[in-house]
Amino acid sequence: MAPVAKVGGLADVISGLGKALQKKGHLVEIILPKYDCMQVDQVSNLKVLDVLVQSYFEGNMFNNKIWTGTVEGLPVYFIEPQHPAMFFSRAQYYGEHDDFKRFAYFSRAALELLYQSGKKVDIIHCHDWQTAFVAPLYWDVYANLGFNSARICFTCHNFEYQGTAPARDLAWCGLDVEHLDRPDRMRDNSHGRINAVKGAIVYSNIVTTVSPTYALEVRSEGGRGLQDTLKVHSRKFLGILNGIDTDTWNPSTDRYLKVQYNAKDLQGKAANKAALREQLNLASAYPSQPLVGCITRLVAQKGVHLIRHAIYKTAELGGQFVLLGSSPVPEIQREFEGIADHFQNNNNIRLILKYDDALSHCIYAASDMFIVPSIFEPCGLTQMIAMRYGSVPIVRKTGGLNDSVFDFDDETIPMEVRNGFTFVKADEQGLSSAMERAFNCYTRKPEVWKQLVQKDMTIDFSWDTSASQYEDIYQKAVARARAV
Ligand code: GLC
Repeated sequence: MAPVAKVGGLADVISGLGKALQKKGHLVEIILPKYDCMQVDQVSNLKVLDVLVQSYFEGNMFNNKIWTGTVEGLPVYFIEPQHPAMFFSRAQYYGEHDDFKRFAYFSRAALELLYQSGKKVDIIHCHDWQTAFVAPLYWDVYANLGFNSARICFTCHNFEYQGTAPARDLAWCGLDVEHLDRPDRMRDNSHGRINAVKGAIVYSNIVTTVSPTYALEVRSEGGRGLQDTLKVHSRKFLGILNGIDTDTWNPSTDRYLKVQYNAKDLQGKAANKAALREQLNLASAYPSQPLVGCITRLVAQKGVHLIRHAIYKTAELGGQFVLLGSSPVPEIQREFEGIADHFQNNNNIRLILKYDDALSHCIYAASDMFIVPSIFEPCGLTQMIAMRYGSVPIVRKTGGLNDSVFDFDDETIPMEVRNGFTFVKADEQGLSSAMERAFNCYTRKPEVWKQLVQKDMTIDFSWDTSASQYEDIYQKAVARARAV
């Protein structure tokens, strides 16, 4: 949950969707592990409750300390297990050898917290495999205890991560292995394992993913083995495009920017470009050179080879390039360090190989174009943020990118919705031609470009629309529950 515990776009969804639903009058409460590495300074009124919640794990009961606090105006519960394995005191959010165990524990403890609180819950909305155990636990364990008024919504943000383990490990959190280790329940395609996301698809009342196009893609190869399960359960499965947090991402109030600006005053944007050039020691002799930005984790999904190509292509076209991002994969990180060295004395290219929130705001504001060449992209948030800051996106037509960016030169779609440049094939040629078209428009038709920038800045990417869609499916699920 951004900004208290963020490793990717999912974190933004939790706070963005939560706030939007709260604004519509719903009571939204978030449950998180009490990670030792979280940004405690982002929580107000953090305090520990007097009562301990006991939860089951591996044949024993364990105490959990429960903390409460407020993040971005939303009430949050933090669960701190009193378990010798110190599940959430690992100095990182995920990537531990026992992640499956850690999150199975958390899922069970979170349900126990809700059960013992006596709250009348309408919807339990779980995100990604780490919380996927909640759905089978709820219907197979808690419903039998009379805790059954809620309906479960599960959102998968990326089908690449499904959470698999040997079947017997399901028993840790109190699930019945024999009952669940079946091909129509939780058995994974690979022999002898079970699959957490599969269990959530089978057991949840509503299953969503983060864009309509990705929802289609995962019904075939994109489903990475879960396509058949998704087809069987297709009536409860849909894609809802994420919004962005338009308070955090607002160029007219953004505190990180040198100068705040809006669509009517693009001089402010130019001032941010000048400031970033100075900060990063980029050449400023040609104000007409476009600045291309890219902010990403450097992992295969993001099209690493295409990002590399975009850097060289920008140099060839006479533009400037700023990359901000780092890689969890040492070889990729080294490769990009090599590229950074290569361009060390070139004052048109800068690679900043780390995560830096403040700098990211400045890059969105300073850049004219923004590259997102993903191989696949469930939703993607950066292209929407870029547009809000007047940086025209150049993206590959996949997943949520296909649902939010429409090619400027595509005459089959109405001019009003065309807002960027797209390419289809994940190869250098496709990207090059989209970049050439963008550069051409920028340098040869400045007036047309300006209108495009202004149009992009005024598109509504707020959570409001998406939150209404969630509200609608929640309400239908609750109505069905009451009808039973
Ligand atoms: C994951 C996906 C990304 C999506 C984000 C939020 O990080 O890879 O495409 O935008 O979740 O749903």
